[in-house]
Amino acid sequence: MLPRCEASVCHVLMLVLCLSAAEDFDWTKNNHGAFYYGTFPAGFSWGAGSSAYQTEGAWDKDGKGLSIWDVFSHKKGKILLNETGDSSCEGYYKIKDDVSLIKELKLNHYRFSISWPRLIPTGIKSDHINEKGIQYYDQLIDHLLENKITPIVTLYHWDLPQVLQEKYGGWQNISMVNHFNEFANLCFERFGNRIKYWITFNNPWSVAVEGYETGEHAPGLKLRGMGAYRAAHNIIKAHAKVWHTYDTQWRGKQKGMVGISLSGDWGEPVDISNQKDIEAAERYVQFYLGWFATPIFHGDYPQVMKDFVGRKSAQQGLGTSRLPTFSPQEKSYIKGTCDFLGIGHFTTRYITQKNNPSDRSSSSYFTDRDLAELVDPRWPDPGSEWLYSVPWGFRRLLNFVKTQYGNPMIYVTENGVSEKMSCTELCDEWRIQYFKEYINEMLKAIKDGVNVKGYTAWSLLDKFEWDEGYSERFGLYYVDFRNRNKPRYPKASVQFYKRVIASNGFPNQREVENWRRKAVETCSSSNQLLAAEEQRSTAANILRLIHDPLTSHMEMVTEIVVPTVCTLSILLSAIFLMFLLRRRN
Ligand code: NOJ
Repeated sequence: MLPRCEASVCHVLMLVLCLSAAEDFDWTKNNHGAFYYGTFPAGFSWGAGSSAYQTEGAWDKDGKGLSIWDVFSHKKGKILLNETGDSSCEGYYKIKDDVSLIKELKLNHYRFSISWPRLIPTGIKSDHINEKGIQYYDQLIDHLLENKITPIVTLYHWDLPQVLQEKYGGWQNISMVNHFNEFANLCFERFGNRIKYWITFNNPWSVAVEGYETGEHAPGLKLRGMGAYRAAHNIIKAHAKVWHTYDTQWRGKQKGMVGISLSGDWGEPVDISNQKDIEAAERYVQFYLGWFATPIFHGDYPQVMKDFVGRKSAQQGLGTSRLPTFSPQEKSYIKGTCDFLGIGHFTTRYITQKNNPSDRSSSSYFTDRDLAELVDPRWPDPGSEWLYSVPWGFRRLLNFVKTQYGNPMIYVTENGVSEKMSCTELCDEWRIQYFKEYINEMLKAIKDGVNVKGYTAWSLLDKFEWDEGYSERFGLYYVDFRNRNKPRYPKASVQFYKRVIASNGFPNQREVENWRRKAVETCSSSNQLLAAEEQRSTAANILRLIHDPLTSHMEMVTEIVVPTVCTLSILLSAIFLMFLLRRRN
Protein backbone atom coordinates (compact mmCIF):
# COMPACT_ATOMS: atom_id res chain seq x y z
CA MET A 1 0.00 0.00 0.00
CA LEU A 2 1.14 3.56 -0.68
CA PRO A 3 1.66 5.88 2.29
CA ARG A 4 -1.24 8.34 2.61
CA CYS A 5 0.50 11.48 1.38
CA GLU A 6 2.00 9.66 -1.64
CA ALA A 7 -1.44 8.32 -2.50
CA SER A 8 -2.95 11.80 -2.46
CA VAL A 9 -0.11 13.15 -4.63
CA CYS A 10 -0.97 10.34 -7.06
CA HIS A 11 -4.63 11.31 -7.01
CA VAL A 12 -3.83 14.93 -7.72
CA LEU A 13 -1.52 13.91 -10.56
CA MET A 14 -4.17 11.62 -12.05
CA LEU A 15 -6.74 14.38 -11.82
CA VAL A 16 -4.44 16.85 -13.54
CA LEU A 17 -3.69 14.32 -16.26
CA CYS A 18 -7.38 13.56 -16.76
CA LEU A 19 -8.29 17.23 -16.82
CA SER A 20 -5.61 18.06 -19.31
CA ALA A 21 -6.65 15.10 -21.50
CA ALA A 22 -10.23 16.32 -21.33
CA GLU A 23 -9.10 19.82 -22.23
CA ASP A 24 -7.13 18.46 -25.18
CA PHE A 25 -10.18 16.65 -26.26
CA ASP A 26 -12.65 19.51 -25.77
CA TRP A 27 -10.51 21.55 -28.06
CA THR A 28 -11.47 19.16 -30.93
CA LYS A 29 -15.12 20.16 -30.53
CA ASN A 30 -14.67 23.72 -31.70
CA ASN A 31 -12.02 23.01 -34.25
CA HIS A 32 -13.16 20.85 -37.19
CA GLY A 33 -9.67 20.16 -38.46
CA ALA A 34 -8.17 19.14 -35.09
CA PHE A 35 -6.63 15.69 -35.18
CA TYR A 36 -6.94 13.62 -32.04
CA TYR A 37 -4.14 11.14 -31.26
CA GLY A 38 -5.33 8.17 -29.27
CA THR A 39 -6.43 4.57 -29.53
CA PHE A 40 -9.71 2.69 -29.74
CA PRO A 41 -11.11 0.61 -26.89
CA ALA A 42 -9.61 -2.89 -26.62
CA GLY A 43 -11.55 -5.39 -28.72
CA PHE A 44 -12.65 -2.80 -31.26
CA SER A 45 -13.43 -4.69 -34.49
CA TRP A 46 -11.85 -3.63 -37.80
CA GLY A 47 -13.27 -4.84 -41.08
CA ALA A 48 -14.02 -4.31 -44.73
CA GLY A 49 -17.15 -5.00 -46.74
CA SER A 50 -18.66 -6.14 -50.01
CA SER A 51 -22.03 -7.17 -51.39
CA ALA A 52 -23.15 -10.13 -53.48
CA TYR A 53 -24.31 -8.45 -56.67
CA GLN A 54 -21.45 -5.98 -56.67
CA THR A 55 -18.68 -8.61 -56.43
CA GLU A 56 -19.73 -12.24 -56.96
CA GLY A 57 -20.32 -12.39 -60.71
CA ALA A 58 -21.51 -15.90 -61.71
CA TRP A 59 -24.92 -14.33 -62.25
CA ASP A 60 -26.44 -17.36 -63.96
CA LYS A 61 -24.24 -20.17 -62.67
CA ASP A 62 -24.93 -23.25 -60.55
CA GLY A 63 -28.69 -22.81 -60.42
CA LYS A 64 -28.85 -19.16 -59.32
CA GLY A 65 -32.11 -17.38 -60.19
CA LEU A 66 -32.33 -13.87 -61.62
CA SER A 67 -32.38 -10.85 -59.36
CA ILE A 68 -33.89 -7.47 -60.19
CA TRP A 69 -30.33 -6.19 -60.70
CA ASP A 70 -29.55 -8.89 -63.29
CA VAL A 71 -32.60 -7.85 -65.26
CA PHE A 72 -32.20 -4.10 -64.76
CA SER A 73 -28.53 -4.03 -65.74
CA HIS A 74 -29.26 -5.95 -68.94
CA LYS A 75 -31.70 -3.27 -70.10
CA LYS A 76 -29.99 -0.78 -72.39
CA GLY A 77 -29.48 2.70 -70.98
CA LYS A 78 -29.89 1.92 -67.29
CA ILE A 79 -26.21 1.59 -66.31
CA LEU A 80 -23.28 3.73 -67.41
CA LEU A 81 -21.79 2.17 -70.56
CA ASN A 82 -24.39 -0.59 -70.23
CA GLU A 83 -22.14 -2.50 -67.84
CA THR A 84 -23.53 -5.39 -65.78
CA GLY A 85 -22.48 -7.37 -62.71
CA ASP A 86 -22.43 -10.59 -64.77
CA SER A 87 -18.85 -11.37 -63.91
CA SER A 88 -17.74 -8.34 -61.83
CA CYS A 89 -14.83 -9.43 -59.56
CA GLU A 90 -15.64 -13.15 -60.02
CA GLY A 91 -15.74 -13.33 -56.25
CA TYR A 92 -17.81 -16.52 -56.53
CA TYR A 93 -14.68 -18.29 -57.74
CA LYS A 94 -12.15 -16.52 -55.57
CA ILE A 95 -12.96 -17.28 -51.96
CA LYS A 96 -9.39 -18.23 -51.14
CA ASP A 97 -7.82 -15.26 -52.89
CA ASP A 98 -10.13 -12.80 -51.19
CA VAL A 99 -9.77 -14.31 -47.75
CA SER A 100 -6.02 -13.99 -48.12
CA LEU A 101 -6.43 -10.28 -48.87
CA ILE A 102 -8.54 -9.97 -45.73
CA LYS A 103 -5.83 -11.75 -43.78
CA GLU A 104 -3.18 -9.53 -45.26
CA LEU A 105 -5.04 -6.55 -43.78
CA LYS A 106 -5.41 -8.41 -40.47
CA LEU A 107 -9.10 -7.61 -40.36
CA ASN A 108 -11.20 -8.80 -37.44
CA HIS A 109 -14.39 -9.03 -39.49
CA TYR A 110 -15.56 -9.23 -43.06
CA ARG A 111 -18.99 -8.02 -44.10
CA PHE A 112 -20.63 -9.66 -47.12
CA SER A 113 -24.17 -10.26 -48.30
CA ILE A 114 -26.06 -13.39 -49.31
CA SER A 115 -27.75 -13.37 -52.68
CA TRP A 116 -31.38 -14.37 -52.10
CA PRO A 117 -31.89 -15.77 -55.65
CA ARG A 118 -28.67 -17.80 -55.37
CA LEU A 119 -30.26 -19.66 -52.46
CA ILE A 120 -33.90 -19.54 -53.52
CA PRO A 121 -34.02 -18.97 -57.29
CA THR A 122 -37.63 -17.72 -57.46
CA GLY A 123 -37.55 -16.12 -54.01
CA ILE A 124 -40.33 -18.46 -52.84
CA LYS A 125 -38.91 -21.07 -50.49
CA SER A 126 -41.51 -23.74 -51.25
CA ASP A 127 -40.52 -23.64 -54.96
CA HIS A 128 -36.90 -24.76 -54.66
CA ILE A 129 -33.74 -24.39 -52.56
CA ASN A 130 -30.49 -24.28 -54.50
CA GLU A 131 -28.01 -26.42 -52.56
CA LYS A 132 -25.09 -25.23 -54.68
CA GLY A 133 -25.75 -21.70 -53.50
CA ILE A 134 -25.76 -22.90 -49.90
CA GLN A 135 -22.44 -24.66 -50.51
CA TYR A 136 -20.84 -21.49 -51.78
CA TYR A 137 -21.69 -19.51 -48.63
CA ASP A 138 -20.79 -22.50 -46.45
CA GLN A 139 -17.32 -22.47 -47.95
CA LEU A 140 -16.93 -18.72 -47.61
CA ILE A 141 -18.02 -18.77 -43.96
CA ASP A 142 -15.86 -21.76 -43.08
CA HIS A 143 -12.84 -20.28 -44.74
CA LEU A 144 -13.28 -17.00 -42.89
CA LEU A 145 -13.66 -18.76 -39.57
CA GLU A 146 -10.64 -20.99 -40.19
CA ASN A 147 -8.71 -17.77 -40.54
CA LYS A 148 -10.23 -16.24 -37.41
CA ILE A 149 -12.23 -13.62 -39.28
CA THR A 150 -15.72 -12.92 -37.99
CA PRO A 151 -18.35 -12.91 -40.74
CA ILE A 152 -20.98 -10.15 -40.59
CA VAL A 153 -23.76 -11.18 -42.93
CA THR A 154 -26.27 -8.97 -44.71
CA LEU A 155 -29.43 -10.71 -45.87
CA TYR A 156 -30.59 -8.08 -48.32
CA HIS A 157 -28.16 -5.92 -50.25
CA TRP A 158 -30.67 -4.99 -52.96
CA ASP A 159 -30.83 -8.18 -55.07
CA LEU A 160 -34.51 -9.15 -54.84
CA PRO A 161 -35.44 -12.27 -56.83
CA GLN A 162 -36.91 -11.07 -60.13
CA VAL A 163 -39.88 -13.43 -59.86
CA LEU A 164 -41.03 -11.62 -56.71
CA GLN A 165 -40.86 -8.31 -58.53
CA GLU A 166 -42.80 -9.59 -61.52
CA LYS A 167 -45.42 -11.55 -59.58
CA TYR A 168 -46.10 -9.15 -56.73
CA GLY A 169 -44.46 -5.79 -57.46
CA GLY A 170 -41.54 -6.41 -55.09
CA TRP A 171 -41.35 -4.16 -52.03
CA GLN A 172 -44.61 -2.44 -53.00
CA ASN A 173 -46.33 -5.59 -51.83
CA ILE A 174 -46.84 -6.71 -48.23
CA SER A 175 -46.34 -10.36 -49.26
CA MET A 176 -42.58 -9.65 -49.38
CA VAL A 177 -42.59 -9.71 -45.58
CA ASN A 178 -43.29 -13.45 -45.43
CA HIS A 179 -41.09 -14.38 -48.37
CA PHE A 180 -38.16 -12.47 -46.88
CA ASN A 181 -38.78 -14.02 -43.50
CA GLU A 182 -38.64 -17.52 -45.02
CA PHE A 183 -35.38 -16.71 -46.75
CA ALA A 184 -33.92 -15.30 -43.52
CA ASN A 185 -35.11 -18.32 -41.60
CA LEU A 186 -33.37 -20.60 -44.08
CA CYS A 187 -30.14 -18.63 -43.56
CA PHE A 188 -30.46 -18.90 -39.76
CA GLU A 189 -31.08 -22.63 -40.09
CA ARG A 190 -28.17 -23.35 -42.44
CA PHE A 191 -25.55 -20.80 -41.38
CA GLY A 192 -26.65 -19.61 -37.96
CA ASN A 193 -24.45 -22.05 -36.06
CA ARG A 194 -21.47 -20.03 -37.38
CA ILE A 195 -22.87 -16.49 -37.84
CA LYS A 196 -23.24 -14.21 -34.85
CA TYR A 197 -23.94 -10.91 -36.62
CA TRP A 198 -26.90 -10.64 -38.97
CA ILE A 199 -27.95 -7.50 -40.83
CA THR A 200 -31.45 -7.71 -42.27
CA PHE A 201 -31.31 -4.82 -44.78
CA ASN A 202 -28.54 -2.74 -46.19
CA ASN A 203 -29.45 0.90 -46.76
CA PRO A 204 -33.21 0.56 -47.18
CA TRP A 205 -33.36 4.29 -47.98
CA SER A 206 -31.74 3.56 -51.31
CA VAL A 207 -33.98 0.59 -52.02
CA ALA A 208 -37.08 2.70 -51.39
CA VAL A 209 -36.06 6.02 -52.95
CA GLU A 210 -33.86 4.95 -55.85
CA GLY A 211 -35.70 1.70 -56.60
CA TYR A 212 -39.31 2.87 -56.34
CA GLU A 213 -39.32 6.69 -56.47
CA THR A 214 -36.62 7.95 -58.87
CA GLY A 215 -36.10 4.65 -60.70
CA GLU A 216 -32.32 5.07 -60.95
CA HIS A 217 -31.86 1.67 -59.35
CA ALA A 218 -33.56 -1.69 -59.88
CA PRO A 219 -36.43 -2.33 -60.32
CA GLY A 220 -36.45 1.15 -61.90
CA LEU A 221 -39.95 2.25 -60.90
CA LYS A 222 -40.90 5.93 -60.76
CA LEU A 223 -43.83 5.92 -58.35
CA ARG A 224 -43.33 9.48 -57.18
CA GLY A 225 -44.74 10.58 -53.87
CA MET A 226 -45.94 7.11 -52.85
CA GLY A 227 -43.57 4.37 -54.04
CA ALA A 228 -40.73 5.05 -51.62
CA TYR A 229 -43.00 5.36 -48.57
CA ARG A 230 -44.80 2.13 -49.40
CA ALA A 231 -41.56 0.21 -50.02
CA ALA A 232 -40.05 1.50 -46.77
CA HIS A 233 -43.19 0.54 -44.84
CA ASN A 234 -42.97 -3.08 -46.02
CA ILE A 235 -39.22 -3.22 -45.46
CA ILE A 236 -39.57 -2.03 -41.85
CA LYS A 237 -42.22 -4.70 -41.23
CA ALA A 238 -40.04 -7.35 -42.88
CA HIS A 239 -37.09 -6.33 -40.72
CA ALA A 240 -39.17 -6.58 -37.55
CA LYS A 241 -40.56 -9.97 -38.52
CA VAL A 242 -37.08 -11.39 -39.15
CA TRP A 243 -35.83 -10.01 -35.84
CA HIS A 244 -38.74 -11.72 -34.02
CA THR A 245 -38.11 -14.98 -35.90
CA TYR A 246 -34.51 -14.95 -34.73
CA ASP A 247 -35.47 -13.89 -31.25
CA THR A 248 -38.04 -16.62 -30.71
CA GLN A 249 -36.58 -19.51 -32.72
CA TRP A 250 -32.80 -19.14 -32.88
CA ARG A 251 -31.33 -16.74 -30.36
CA GLY A 252 -31.37 -19.26 -27.52
CA LYS A 253 -29.28 -21.80 -29.46
CA GLN A 254 -27.20 -19.56 -31.67
CA LYS A 255 -26.62 -16.59 -29.38
CA GLY A 256 -26.20 -14.11 -32.22
CA MET A 257 -27.50 -10.60 -32.86
CA VAL A 258 -29.75 -9.11 -35.52
CA GLY A 259 -29.45 -5.51 -36.67
CA ILE A 260 -30.08 -3.35 -39.69
CA SER A 261 -27.67 -1.19 -41.64
CA LEU A 262 -28.99 2.34 -42.22
CA SER A 263 -27.36 5.00 -44.30
CA GLY A 264 -27.37 8.61 -43.45
CA ASP A 265 -25.65 11.75 -44.62
CA TRP A 266 -25.24 14.40 -41.97
CA GLY A 267 -27.21 17.64 -42.51
CA GLU A 268 -25.70 20.84 -41.11
CA PRO A 269 -27.73 24.08 -41.00
CA VAL A 270 -26.39 26.67 -43.44
CA ASP A 271 -26.98 29.40 -40.87
CA ILE A 272 -26.68 28.10 -37.32
CA SER A 273 -28.37 31.21 -35.95
CA ASN A 274 -31.45 30.73 -38.12
CA GLN A 275 -34.13 28.56 -36.50
CA LYS A 276 -35.63 27.67 -39.90
CA ASP A 277 -32.31 26.31 -41.13
CA ILE A 278 -31.80 24.39 -37.89
CA GLU A 279 -35.21 22.77 -38.30
CA ALA A 280 -34.61 22.06 -41.99
CA ALA A 281 -31.31 20.32 -41.20
CA GLU A 282 -32.98 18.22 -38.51
CA ARG A 283 -35.71 17.33 -41.03
CA TYR A 284 -33.09 16.26 -43.54
CA VAL A 285 -31.64 13.75 -41.10
CA GLN A 286 -35.07 12.60 -39.89
CA PHE A 287 -36.28 11.95 -43.46
CA TYR A 288 -33.07 10.00 -44.10
CA LEU A 289 -31.87 7.98 -41.12
CA GLY A 290 -34.83 8.73 -38.85
CA TRP A 291 -37.36 7.36 -41.36
CA PHE A 292 -36.13 3.83 -40.51
CA ALA A 293 -34.41 4.26 -37.15
CA THR A 294 -37.32 5.96 -35.36
CA PRO A 295 -39.86 3.15 -35.95
CA ILE A 296 -37.25 0.54 -35.03
CA PHE A 297 -36.21 2.28 -31.79
CA HIS A 298 -39.40 4.17 -30.87
CA GLY A 299 -42.20 2.35 -32.72
CA ASP A 300 -43.33 5.00 -35.23
CA TYR A 301 -42.17 7.40 -37.94
CA PRO A 302 -40.55 10.68 -36.85
CA GLN A 303 -43.21 13.23 -35.92
CA VAL A 304 -41.79 15.70 -38.43
CA MET A 305 -42.30 13.22 -41.30
CA LYS A 306 -45.86 12.56 -40.24
CA ASP A 307 -46.52 16.33 -40.05
CA PHE A 308 -44.92 17.30 -43.34
CA VAL A 309 -46.14 14.43 -45.54
CA GLY A 310 -49.58 14.59 -43.87
CA ARG A 311 -49.94 18.35 -44.45
CA LYS A 312 -48.76 18.16 -48.06
CA SER A 313 -51.06 15.23 -48.78
CA ALA A 314 -54.04 17.21 -47.42
CA GLN A 315 -53.08 20.24 -49.54
CA GLN A 316 -52.98 17.91 -52.54
CA GLY A 317 -56.58 16.94 -51.84
CA LEU A 318 -55.81 13.43 -50.62
CA GLY A 319 -58.03 11.93 -47.93
CA THR A 320 -55.10 10.24 -46.16
CA SER A 321 -51.39 10.84 -45.86
CA ARG A 322 -49.09 9.39 -48.49
CA LEU A 323 -46.99 8.24 -45.54
CA PRO A 324 -48.59 4.95 -44.40
CA THR A 325 -49.44 4.41 -40.75
CA PHE A 326 -48.63 1.61 -38.33
CA SER A 327 -51.40 0.12 -36.19
CA PRO A 328 -50.83 0.14 -32.39
CA GLN A 329 -50.00 -3.61 -32.54
CA GLU A 330 -47.53 -3.05 -35.35
CA LYS A 331 -45.87 -0.23 -33.42
CA SER A 332 -45.18 -2.36 -30.42
CA TYR A 333 -44.10 -5.30 -32.63
CA ILE A 334 -41.57 -3.09 -34.49
CA LYS A 335 -40.25 -1.14 -31.49
CA GLY A 336 -36.98 -2.46 -30.11
CA THR A 337 -36.18 -4.85 -32.94
CA CYS A 338 -32.50 -4.00 -33.14
CA ASP A 339 -29.65 -5.67 -31.25
CA PHE A 340 -27.12 -3.38 -32.89
CA LEU A 341 -27.37 -0.58 -35.40
CA GLY A 342 -25.30 -0.62 -38.57
CA ILE A 343 -24.39 2.82 -39.85
CA GLY A 344 -23.31 3.49 -43.41
CA HIS A 345 -21.97 7.00 -43.81
CA PHE A 346 -20.07 8.75 -46.57
CA THR A 347 -20.80 12.47 -46.72
CA THR A 348 -22.51 15.65 -45.45
CA ARG A 349 -24.67 18.47 -46.84
CA TYR A 350 -25.44 22.00 -45.77
CA ILE A 351 -29.18 22.45 -45.47
CA THR A 352 -31.42 25.47 -45.71
CA GLN A 353 -35.20 25.90 -45.50
CA LYS A 354 -37.00 26.04 -48.88
CA ASN A 355 -40.75 25.94 -49.41
CA ASN A 356 -41.76 23.62 -52.23
CA PRO A 357 -45.05 23.90 -54.12
CA SER A 358 -47.69 21.52 -52.78
CA ASP A 359 -49.51 20.63 -56.01
CA ARG A 360 -50.15 16.97 -56.70
CA SER A 361 -48.03 16.80 -59.88
CA SER A 362 -44.85 17.73 -58.05
CA SER A 363 -45.39 15.45 -55.06
CA SER A 364 -42.33 13.44 -54.13
CA TYR A 365 -40.26 12.31 -51.19
CA PHE A 366 -37.80 15.11 -52.01
CA THR A 367 -40.33 17.97 -52.20
CA ASP A 368 -42.05 16.75 -49.03
CA ARG A 369 -39.00 17.83 -47.02
CA ASP A 370 -39.14 21.57 -47.86
CA LEU A 371 -35.40 22.08 -47.89
CA ALA A 372 -32.44 22.67 -50.18
CA GLU A 373 -29.09 20.87 -50.04
CA LEU A 374 -25.84 22.78 -50.56
CA VAL A 375 -22.17 21.89 -50.58
CA ASP A 376 -19.10 23.89 -49.75
CA PRO A 377 -17.03 24.18 -52.94
CA ARG A 378 -13.88 23.73 -50.84
CA TRP A 379 -14.87 20.23 -49.75
CA PRO A 380 -12.73 17.62 -51.54
CA ASP A 381 -14.70 15.39 -53.95
CA PRO A 382 -12.23 12.93 -55.47
CA GLY A 383 -14.73 10.42 -56.83
CA SER A 384 -18.48 10.00 -56.94
CA GLU A 385 -20.36 13.16 -57.77
CA TRP A 386 -22.33 13.03 -54.51
CA LEU A 387 -19.41 12.22 -52.22
CA TYR A 388 -17.68 15.18 -50.58
CA SER A 389 -15.19 14.53 -47.83
CA VAL A 390 -16.53 16.22 -44.68
CA PRO A 391 -15.13 14.19 -41.75
CA TRP A 392 -16.63 16.28 -38.93
CA GLY A 393 -20.15 15.38 -40.16
CA PHE A 394 -19.45 11.77 -39.17
CA ARG A 395 -18.91 12.65 -35.51
CA ARG A 396 -22.11 14.68 -35.49
CA LEU A 397 -24.14 11.91 -37.06
CA LEU A 398 -22.83 9.38 -34.53
CA ASN A 399 -23.70 11.71 -31.67
CA PHE A 400 -27.16 12.21 -33.16
CA VAL A 401 -27.68 8.43 -33.07
CA LYS A 402 -26.54 8.34 -29.46
CA THR A 403 -28.95 11.00 -28.27
CA GLN A 404 -31.95 10.09 -30.42
CA TYR A 405 -31.99 6.34 -29.97
CA GLY A 406 -30.69 5.79 -26.45
CA ASN A 407 -27.03 5.15 -27.21
CA PRO A 408 -27.43 1.83 -29.07
CA MET A 409 -24.55 -0.48 -29.93
CA ILE A 410 -23.24 0.69 -33.30
CA TYR A 411 -21.21 -1.01 -35.98
CA VAL A 412 -20.10 1.27 -38.78
CA THR A 413 -21.03 -0.94 -41.70
CA GLU A 414 -19.86 1.28 -44.58
CA ASN A 415 -17.49 4.21 -44.86
CA GLY A 416 -15.13 5.01 -47.69
CA VAL A 417 -14.46 7.02 -50.81
CA SER A 418 -14.22 6.39 -54.53
CA GLU A 419 -12.07 7.59 -57.36
CA LYS A 420 -13.26 8.38 -60.84
CA MET A 421 -10.51 7.26 -63.14
CA SER A 422 -10.18 5.17 -66.19
CA CYS A 423 -6.37 5.23 -65.85
CA THR A 424 -4.75 3.00 -63.29
CA GLU A 425 -3.94 4.65 -59.98
CA LEU A 426 -2.81 2.70 -56.97
CA CYS A 427 -1.36 5.67 -55.11
CA ASP A 428 -4.65 6.74 -53.56
CA GLU A 429 -3.45 9.46 -51.22
CA TRP A 430 -6.90 11.04 -51.08
CA ARG A 431 -8.34 7.76 -49.76
CA ILE A 432 -5.64 7.61 -47.08
CA GLN A 433 -6.62 11.13 -46.10
CA TYR A 434 -10.32 10.28 -46.10
CA PHE A 435 -9.87 7.16 -43.94
CA LYS A 436 -7.49 8.92 -41.60
CA GLU A 437 -9.87 11.78 -40.95
CA TYR A 438 -13.14 9.84 -40.87
CA ILE A 439 -11.71 7.16 -38.57
CA ASN A 440 -10.39 9.94 -36.36
CA GLU A 441 -13.85 11.53 -36.13
CA MET A 442 -15.23 8.15 -35.12
CA LEU A 443 -12.59 7.97 -32.39
CA LYS A 444 -13.69 11.40 -31.16
CA ALA A 445 -17.31 10.21 -31.18
CA ILE A 446 -16.33 7.24 -29.02
CA LYS A 447 -14.67 9.71 -26.65
CA ASP A 448 -17.98 11.63 -26.66
CA GLY A 449 -19.57 8.45 -25.33
CA VAL A 450 -21.02 6.99 -28.54
CA ASN A 451 -21.09 3.20 -28.35
CA VAL A 452 -19.26 2.25 -31.57
CA LYS A 453 -17.95 -1.32 -31.52
CA GLY A 454 -16.58 -1.78 -35.00
CA TYR A 455 -15.70 -0.15 -38.28
CA THR A 456 -16.08 -1.50 -41.80
CA ALA A 457 -14.13 0.13 -44.60
CA TRP A 458 -16.09 0.26 -47.83
CA SER A 459 -15.02 -1.65 -49.75
CA LEU A 460 -12.54 -4.49 -49.85
CA LEU A 461 -12.42 -4.51 -53.67
CA ASP A 462 -13.31 -2.25 -56.55
CA LYS A 463 -16.62 -3.56 -57.83
CA PHE A 464 -19.82 -2.90 -59.76
CA GLU A 465 -21.04 0.46 -58.51
CA TRP A 466 -24.74 0.14 -59.40
CA ASP A 467 -25.95 2.64 -62.03
CA GLU A 468 -22.39 3.99 -62.30
CA GLY A 469 -21.10 0.65 -63.60
CA TYR A 470 -17.37 0.24 -62.99
CA SER A 471 -16.58 3.95 -63.27
CA GLU A 472 -16.37 4.55 -59.51
CA ARG A 473 -13.82 2.55 -57.58
CA PHE A 474 -14.30 2.26 -53.82
CA GLY A 475 -11.85 -0.59 -53.22
CA LEU A 476 -8.87 -0.89 -50.96
CA TYR A 477 -7.76 -3.33 -53.65
CA TYR A 478 -7.77 -2.36 -57.29
CA VAL A 479 -9.42 -4.88 -59.61
CA ASP A 480 -8.31 -5.04 -63.22
CA PHE A 481 -11.70 -5.60 -64.83
CA ARG A 482 -10.23 -5.71 -68.32
CA ASN A 483 -8.35 -8.85 -67.48
CA ARG A 484 -10.54 -11.95 -67.51
CA ASN A 485 -8.86 -13.25 -64.35
CA LYS A 486 -9.82 -10.07 -62.48
CA PRO A 487 -6.51 -9.78 -60.61
CA ARG A 488 -6.46 -7.66 -57.43
CA TYR A 489 -3.69 -5.15 -56.59
CA PRO A 490 -3.27 -3.36 -53.26
CA LYS A 491 -3.69 0.40 -53.31
CA ALA A 492 -1.57 2.52 -50.97
CA SER A 493 -4.55 2.78 -48.60
CA VAL A 494 -4.15 -0.95 -47.80
CA GLN A 495 -0.80 -0.21 -46.17
CA PHE A 496 -2.23 2.71 -44.25
CA TYR A 497 -5.36 0.94 -43.02
CA LYS A 498 -3.24 -2.03 -42.00
CA ARG A 499 -1.20 0.19 -39.69
CA VAL A 500 -4.28 1.82 -38.17
CA ILE A 501 -5.56 -1.68 -37.40
CA ALA A 502 -2.23 -2.91 -36.02
CA SER A 503 -2.02 0.11 -33.67
CA ASN A 504 -5.76 0.12 -32.93
CA GLY A 505 -5.80 3.85 -33.67
CA PHE A 506 -3.39 6.71 -34.04
CA PRO A 507 -0.49 6.61 -31.54
CA ASN A 508 1.25 9.91 -32.36
CA GLN A 509 1.81 12.38 -35.15
CA ARG A 510 5.29 11.17 -36.13
CA GLU A 511 4.18 7.57 -36.59
CA VAL A 512 0.99 8.36 -38.44
CA GLU A 513 2.90 10.65 -40.81
CA ASN A 514 5.40 7.83 -41.35
CA TRP A 515 2.62 5.38 -42.24
CA ARG A 516 1.33 7.74 -44.87
CA ARG A 517 4.77 8.26 -46.37
CA LYS A 518 5.59 4.56 -46.43
CA ALA A 519 2.21 3.65 -47.92
CA VAL A 520 2.75 6.08 -50.77
CA GLU A 521 6.27 4.78 -51.35
CA THR A 522 5.14 1.16 -51.77
CA CYS A 523 2.42 1.93 -54.25
CA SER A 524 4.69 3.10 -57.04
CA SER A 525 6.19 -0.37 -57.53
CA SER A 526 2.73 -1.99 -57.52
CA ASN A 527 1.71 0.67 -60.05
CA GLN A 528 4.50 -0.40 -62.40
CA LEU A 529 3.53 -4.04 -62.03
CA LEU A 530 -0.05 -3.27 -62.87
CA ALA A 531 0.84 -1.02 -65.81
CA ALA A 532 2.95 -3.83 -67.31
CA GLU A 533 0.16 -6.35 -66.79
CA GLU A 534 -2.38 -3.97 -68.30
CA GLN A 535 -0.23 -3.48 -71.40
CA ARG A 536 -0.03 -7.23 -71.77
CA SER A 537 -3.78 -7.69 -71.46
CA THR A 538 -4.47 -4.76 -73.82
CA ALA A 539 -2.30 -6.48 -76.44
CA ALA A 540 -4.13 -9.75 -75.82
CA ASN A 541 -7.46 -7.94 -76.21
CA ILE A 542 -6.38 -6.41 -79.52
CA LEU A 543 -5.56 -9.86 -80.82
CA ARG A 544 -8.89 -11.18 -79.58
CA LEU A 545 -10.81 -8.34 -81.21
CA ILE A 546 -9.03 -8.85 -84.54
CA HIS A 547 -10.25 -12.46 -84.46
CA ASP A 548 -13.74 -11.52 -83.40
CA PRO A 549 -15.28 -9.00 -85.82
CA LEU A 550 -18.59 -8.98 -83.98
CA THR A 551 -17.19 -7.47 -80.81
CA SER A 552 -19.01 -4.28 -80.09
CA HIS A 553 -17.70 -0.79 -80.51
CA MET A 554 -18.36 -0.18 -76.82
CA GLU A 555 -15.94 -2.90 -75.83
CA MET A 556 -13.40 -1.38 -78.18
CA VAL A 557 -13.68 1.96 -76.39
CA THR A 558 -13.38 0.67 -72.82
CA GLU A 559 -10.87 -2.10 -73.41
CA ILE A 560 -8.55 -0.51 -75.95
CA VAL A 561 -9.04 3.18 -76.50
CA VAL A 562 -9.02 4.22 -72.83
CA PRO A 563 -5.88 2.30 -71.78
CA THR A 564 -4.12 3.26 -75.00
CA VAL A 565 -4.91 6.93 -74.46
CA CYS A 566 -3.72 6.61 -70.86
CA THR A 567 -0.42 4.98 -71.90
CA LEU A 568 0.10 7.52 -74.67
CA SER A 569 -0.56 10.47 -72.37
CA ILE A 570 1.92 9.12 -69.80
CA LEU A 571 4.52 8.71 -72.58
CA LEU A 572 3.86 12.18 -74.00
CA SER A 573 4.12 13.81 -70.57
CA ALA A 574 7.44 12.01 -69.98
CA ILE A 575 8.79 13.24 -73.35
CA PHE A 576 7.55 16.75 -72.62
CA LEU A 577 9.21 16.69 -69.20
CA MET A 578 12.51 15.53 -70.68
CA PHE A 579 12.27 18.28 -73.27
CA LEU A 580 11.71 20.90 -70.57
CA LEU A 581 14.58 19.60 -68.46
CA ARG A 582 16.94 19.69 -71.45
CA ARG A 583 16.01 23.28 -72.23
CA ARG A 584 16.72 24.22 -68.63
CA ASN A 585 20.19 22.68 -68.81
C1 NOJ B 1 -23.99 2.32 -50.23
C2 NOJ B 1 -24.29 0.98 -50.83
O1 NOJ B 1 -24.78 0.16 -49.82
C3 NOJ B 1 -23.09 0.32 -51.48
O2 NOJ B 1 -23.51 -0.83 -52.13
C4 NOJ B 1 -22.39 1.28 -52.39
O3 NOJ B 1 -21.27 0.68 -53.01
C5 NOJ B 1 -21.98 2.50 -51.59
N1 NOJ B 1 -23.17 3.13 -51.05
C6 NOJ B 1 -21.23 3.53 -52.42
O4 NOJ B 1 -22.08 4.10 -53.35
